[in-house]
Amino acid sequence: MVTGKGSAEGSASGKVILFGEHAVVYGSPAIAAGLDRGARAVVTRLPGGPSTLKLGDGSVVADASSSNDLGRAFAALLEVAPAIPPVRVEARCDLPPGGGLGSSAALAVSIARAAETLVRGDEARPEEDAAIEARVLARAAAWERIFHGNPSGIDATAAARGGIFRFTRAEGARPITPRQDLVLCVGSTGHPSSTRTTVELIASQHTKDPALVKRSIDAVTSIVGNAVLAIEAGDQRALGDLMNMNQLVLSGLFVSTSEIEELCALARSAGALGAKLTGGGGGGCVIALVPPSFRSDGTRDEEREAESAARILDAWRSAEGHYEGF
Ligand code: MEV
Repeated sequence: MVTGKGSAEGSASGKVILFGEHAVVYGSPAIAAGLDRGARAVVTRLPGGPSTLKLGDGSVVADASSSNDLGRAFAALLEVAPAIPPVRVEARCDLPPGGGLGSSAALAVSIARAAETLVRGDEARPEEDAAIEARVLARAAAWERIFHGNPSGIDATAAARGGIFRFTRAEGARPITPRQDLVLCVGSTGHPSSTRTTVELIASQHTKDPALVKRSIDAVTSIVGNAVLAIEAGDQRALGDLMNMNQLVLSGLFVSTSEIEELCALARSAGALGAKLTGGGGGGCVIALVPPSFRSDGTRDEEREAESAARILDAWRSAEGHYEGF
């Protein structure tokens, strides 16, 4: 949306990875879903450079000539051709940084969208929309490469499109139509994690013992294939089992932690059908699948589902670690 003379706004979603994180970096499929929470950016034209970036309440500020990661990522996003002229960016994100919920990609996509809107102004032609979205993803990928090294692109794709979809590096996103709504709780370990670190950890395992990592990737590929079928068939019990299996494989790749395992165990004991880490692991967040409830006429009983979700959130909050969730 163009907000007035020389300013434009953009927004983007956070995400959870339902299945297949890390394996997706090696070309396997993964499943992601957009979150209601996300990022919003306002971009304003400046008479001259350098472009500036203010995050949140203004406590984090960078400009496109800074040599820190944020400054370099910001510059990389703006420099994707055609380069964005000097701008002031103010962006906010209501996702925890390092939580595995796609805060970095959501910021990048919201800034790129606002910048593209500002540059094309009111001249937008609908036939250009696909090219503009492709450029938004290219700008977000340039930003993500600074923070994450070798991003698969799933986070930026989720930030840009929301919804639930299967993704591969080669084919991009293919929407999935769930037979039933999925209700998830997100629990936080309280420890931010670095996706770059866990992606590099698996890359070094891959260099040392490619066959071992390949076996894990193959296992995840079949878990993801079955998960697509379970989502489309509305078989949430199977979906929960598949989440638990995916978590086992991720633990075997050493990207789980004792807090992640505890959050998963607490959620399962409180009635979740399955639980696993989401995103890079090594800290960050877990997701837990809330069992669906139905009334006698077959309609969903949202009240009972909210009670089931509350049991999981209570189990997290009343544990020794006082984990937060939503
Ligand atoms: C991070 O949300 C997902 C990872 O698979 C990294 C990536 O795909 O870029 C860990």
